[in-house]
Parts: sequence; C-alpha cells; structure tokens
Amino acid sequence: PDVPALPQPLRWSTATAAFQIEGARTEDGRGRSVWDAWVDTPGKVVDGATADPAADSYHRWADDVALLAGLGVDRYRFSISWTRVQPDGSGRVNTAGLDYYSRLVDDLLDAGVTPFPTLYHWDLPIPLHEAGGWTERDTVARFTEYTELVAARLGDRVHDWYTVNEPAMTTLQGYAVGELAPGEFLLFDALSTAHHQLLAHGHAMRVLREHGATAVGLPNNHTRVLRLHDTDADAAAAAAYDAIHNRMFADPILTGTYPDLPGIDTRIPVRDGDMEIISTPPDFYGVNFYNPTTVTAPAPDIPIPFEMVPTPGAPVTGFGEQWPIVPAALRDLLVDFATRYENLPPIVISENGASFPEPDVCSSPIDDVDRISYLDGHLRAVAEAMDAGVRIDEYTVWSLLDNFEWADGYTQRFGLTHVDFATGTRTPKSSYDWYRAVIAENRR
Ligand code: BGC
Repeated sequence: PDVPALPQPLRWSTATAAFQIEGARTEDGRGRSVWDAWVDTPGKVVDGATADPAADSYHRWADDVALLAGLGVDRYRFSISWTRVQPDGSGRVNTAGLDYYSRLVDDLLDAGVTPFPTLYHWDLPIPLHEAGGWTERDTVARFTEYTELVAARLGDRVHDWYTVNEPAMTTLQGYAVGELAPGEFLLFDALSTAHHQLLAHGHAMRVLREHGATAVGLPNNHTRVLRLHDTDADAAAAAAYDAIHNRMFADPILTGTYPDLPGIDTRIPVRDGDMEIISTPPDFYGVNFYNPTTVTAPAPDIPIPFEMVPTPGAPVTGFGEQWPIVPAALRDLLVDFATRYENLPPIVISENGASFPEPDVCSSPIDDVDRISYLDGHLRAVAEAMDAGVRIDEYTVWSLLDNFEWADGYTQRFGLTHVDFATGTRTPKSSYDWYRAVIAENRR
C-alpha cells in the first residue's frame, strides 16, 4: 500500500480485552463480574448478546497467536480477567485462570510477540461491586492484591504492562450516566471512582516495578473537544467537557493535581499522599483515540455545563453520528498534549480503530476499505504529530478480532479479522493484509 511516511519507526501492536473475546464465562472456576450481571439482565445489550462464546479465545488463543505472528506486530495488548484469577475479587486464587494467561504468554513469546497485558479492562468482580465498587477506597487495596498475584505469576516473563483501561469511560459511562456496567447514575458523585481508579493505577505501578516491570502505564481514553459555534459560551462548554473527559484523568498523572472543573462541585476524596502515588512517573502515556466530541452551551435549565452535538460535516463509523471520523483531531490532540504537559513521557497510541457494518457470516474475505481509510488517516495524523515534535513510540489497532462490543453486543465489528460468532472461524479482512504491509514497510 501507499504507506504513510513516518519520521521515526514505531512499534506496532493490536489489542483485545478479556470479556470481549474469551467467552467461557462459567469455565474453570471463573467468577462473575459486573459485565456478567449486565449481559444477564434483559434489555441491557443489543440482541441480548451475552459475550459467550464471543470470539471463543479461551479455547482458540493459539489461533489468535498465529494471527498476531502473521501480522508481524511487536506487542499484543490483551487483558487479564480479574475473576478468572480471583473469582471473588479478593482472597482465594483460581490457579486455572492464571494458568491460562501463563500459557498465552509462553505462546506469544515463542511466536516472537511481546505480551503487553492490561490488568483491568472493566470486569470488576461482583462482590467488590456489592461493597461499593470504585466508589469505595477499599477497591484500591483489592486491586493491589490482585496485581501482586498476577505479577508474581507472570512477572518473570512479562515486563510491559497496562494497569487500568480508560478510567474515564468507567467513571462517565459506568457510574455517572449508567450506559455501561455497573450502570450507576451518580452524575458528579461518580468522580470518586475516577480518584480510586487512578490510585489503583499508581499502586499497581509500584507492585509491577517490584516484580521487574520495565514499561508500565495506563491507557486513557481521550477526545479532542470541538465547539459548535465560535462563541464564548461554546468555548466555556468545550473547556468544561475537556476538563471532565480529558484533564480529570490526565492531569493527576502528569501534573499531580486535579483540574478546576468550572461549575462543578468536584467531590474527590483525596487523602494525604494520594497525588504523589498517582503522579509516579509512568514509562509511557497510553492514548486511546477514536473520535472528537463537539459540544455547545447547554440550554439554561440543564444542570450540566455542556451539550454534546453531532460534528458537522464529518463522515461517520458504524455507530453513526456518535463517532465522527476526523483524523486531524488526533494530530491536534497529540500536539496539545505535548504543549500542555511538560513531563509527558513517550506516547503509546494504545487503541485506535473503527467499526463498520459487516456481515455475520463471510463466504469470502471482507474488503473493508472504510477501515483501511480510517486507519490510514489516523496513522498520517500520528506522523504529523511526530513531525511537530511529539514523541510517539507505538501504535495499536483496536482490534485484532471482531468481538463483543459491550452494550452494542455483536453489532459493531472492529476487527482486522472477521469472526463468525456461531463457529469461531477467523477470516482476515483486507485491513489485516494492509496492516501487515504497513508494519513490514516501516521495518525496512
Ligand atoms: C474500549 C474498548 C472498546 C472500544 C470501542 C474503547 O473505549 O477500551 O473495549 O471496544 O473502545 O468502543
């Protein structure tokens, strides 16, 4: 392909998450998480999809490793299921769960792919949820204990780690407006969950380093905030949304402080020493990027200081106007970050990708030109940010496989590889071949 020119070589990666690909929800002693409860509640997930068998990776991990080796990626971002390791979220350890990840790690290393696991990708054990979940400070101690267990088993072979996936999405969609599990509707009271997840990240970094980790960071979800009108009122709305989605989760790590949130009582339960732990310098900063967010000033009777609106004129992904395609927004976000944060470590693009309508069964490989164009555009944006002096080390496609897309079930396919969820059959799409060529070209 006509590969985007990169000013320096990047490391290449692709990502998945345990609940989205593994299936086998009741096998080998696995416990239940908030996502099990969610999928078992009628009406929560499109078409009643249950994430079982999903891509059946609990049984077909060897196929996944072969796909990764075929792509030639440097690292594989997968996640470890807390409830496979500790079915109750504390105490008792399920050796079969750790064995599964240990085998996967060995197979990846044999295939020449560096394992780059995420400790937590949204699957909070039910007993911890019942005790308050991320609103409770005790969940931080439980997460630290879980991290110890995983690091003690895998730390001899795994040195690269992600801690907590996208605290922003858990706080905003899981606890503030209830669109994702656990489905709480706490509005601004949800901000305690941001603090506790960030603190869990900080403690996990220490534990992982004690076990020999050399690359530790977290993947944060970031969006570029655009304003609908060039007015002061819309500028204020954009600043408020930027604070709540971006700064709330990046500032504590990169500056050791929370942002001022205009018009919002922050209610963040900070104790002495917390901010030092949270701002322990990470080895990299993970940016998950999908789309910009356009906002305008809210109507006078709305208690939230912004209103989200479609991005005018932008093409969209399978999610429609919620997911506008604006690659330049990634470039601008990265350049802004480098200006905003003096101590910014190298950036890892820890997720980037898109879903488009594709058939459930494919008789011949899918020619996903829209996905190729999305990825190509965003890689060019990364190259432009590098040209502008931003240090970026790695790029990760979400996702290796079509998988269970949370509340959207199987209706949004993000994979470089098509998965037939009825049979588990994997069929690489054109984007898989394109990505393999991009990687090969960049290595020359
Ligand atoms: C999450 C993934 C998800 C993807 C696409 C990210 O926010 O980390 O789990 O599948 O977005 O929605």
